[in-house]
Amino acid sequence: MSIFLPDKNRLPAIVILDFGSQYSELIARRVRETEVYSLVVNYSTSAEELKKLAPKGIILSGGPRSVYEDDAPYCDPKIWDLDIPVLGVCYGMQLMVQQLGGNVQAASGRAEYGKAPLHIDNSTSLLANVLDGSTMWMSHGDSVKELPEGFECLAHTTNTSRAAIGSQNRRFYGVQFHPEVVHSQNGMQLIKNFIHDICKCPPDWTTKAFIEEAIAQVQKQVGNKKVLLALSGGVDSSTLAFLLHQAIGDQLTCMFIDQGFMRKGEPEFLMEFFDQKFHINVEYINARERFISKLNGIVDPEQKRKIIGTEFIRVFEEESLRLGPFDYLAQGTLYPDVIESAGTNIDPKTGDRIAVKIKSHHNVGGLPKDLQFKLVEPLRGLFKDEVRNVGKSLGLPSEIVRRHPFPGPGLAIRILGEVTEDKLHCLRNADLIVREEITKAGLYHDIWQAFAVLLPVRSVGVMGDQRTYAWPIVVRCISSEDGMTADWSRVPYETLECISNRIVNEVEGVNRVVLDITSKPPGTIEWE
Ligand code: XMP
Repeated sequence: MSIFLPDKNRLPAIVILDFGSQYSELIARRVRETEVYSLVVNYSTSAEELKKLAPKGIILSGGPRSVYEDDAPYCDPKIWDLDIPVLGVCYGMQLMVQQLGGNVQAASGRAEYGKAPLHIDNSTSLLANVLDGSTMWMSHGDSVKELPEGFECLAHTTNTSRAAIGSQNRRFYGVQFHPEVVHSQNGMQLIKNFIHDICKCPPDWTTKAFIEEAIAQVQKQVGNKKVLLALSGGVDSSTLAFLLHQAIGDQLTCMFIDQGFMRKGEPEFLMEFFDQKFHINVEYINARERFISKLNGIVDPEQKRKIIGTEFIRVFEEESLRLGPFDYLAQGTLYPDVIESAGTNIDPKTGDRIAVKIKSHHNVGGLPKDLQFKLVEPLRGLFKDEVRNVGKSLGLPSEIVRRHPFPGPGLAIRILGEVTEDKLHCLRNADLIVREEITKAGLYHDIWQAFAVLLPVRSVGVMGDQRTYAWPIVVRCISSEDGMTADWSRVPYETLECISNRIVNEVEGVNRVVLDITSKPPGTIEWE
């Protein structure tokens, strides 16, 4: 089968055919929020292959194309004969209409973008308990002109006469709006109606069920062999450490490489937490001097990352030989790492998504061939929010479960130009102040990432009677759903004032604090 199944033992109850929408993954996440396992597959997956998966429902995603375009992506028309309920979203609905004999009208100045109140014409089945007048998020040019036989209009908006349609007999439904996005009120209700009532999926995708299955599978895969895990302290590798510890106990060895670019107090916290409190075997590798000496005189960001990546592999290799031998390497690869978003990673020959096997940013991507590990990746079917739930359920504290993402190369990519001990010391202290003040203001969990960046330029200031000539710190606080796009967080002035005051007063070497108010795109989240 050419469909990528992260977990061979669990077939998806709902399959999402991806037509290249930026929301395909989000649909999958929303379905899973209803405790039903879902997977995203390529739009060209044949009806024959889908049949083998025996899903209880199919969702056709939106997409950037128009159904008339010569090379518009079509699904296998035999899907309509499978006797499986289908929900088409936006492009998916238009495709359904076209393939079933209706008619779609090209964009003609009546395109609809943004929020629109939904007027309900039939409040049963798909729209049961969706409030009349609910705001739904529209984003489409084309619209349905003529319904296929057996379909009725379930709802309309001011500009779209057929905003929701359905053939109750055949259990085919379509919506012109995006119920999966947060701006759509009652969107979740609609999704639940489809999943639970129309497809009759039992809610069996629970954290508890996942943990039980994952533990059994790891035990079966690994037997009595030894497993090595590179622990970074992030939520993925920490959750994995807890899961594997439950599954295989002392057969697990975690390696924590301290490259010297961690945040203040982090190495100590990690060792105390995993090793001493939870008795998970963690080997602490102090490689601080090795890393910083390699960065001596290096200012180019790409070169810095490469050097750090290469050095990480060297240390990892040496230490795994010293501590080993190990048969397996455990990695915290997640579902978005293996499917890649927006349908961009499709094999031109087979039309399949290409699974990205190794999480490259964890720096293990380029492991030398002679280090022959087999991989253990029990989280590779999960989204980040699901990993957090698993971590929490396994007993990880919220400091780890809900911590902000932190890049593998650490503070080294938040110091522009050459990395030196002085600058690291300075940035570590400033970074701690940013996090402390954001937490004190109760904003930590509303913000995706909050951190400090050190710029290698000096500006003039005055402290007491002394003229200073010191570095500025940039404060970067952003909100985001997935790190792919981001907006700068509107942190209250009072909090910014505390951050600024504390940094210039408490951090030696800094005399100015500036705020980064750039969204992504065009800015990236990190400065390097
Ligand atoms: P950018 O800067 O590309 O960051 O907008 C997007 C997200 O990825 C994180 N990031 C990294 N994570 N290794 C990592 O593990 C890296 O080299 C790296 N670079 C960026 C960044 O913190 C943000 O969450």
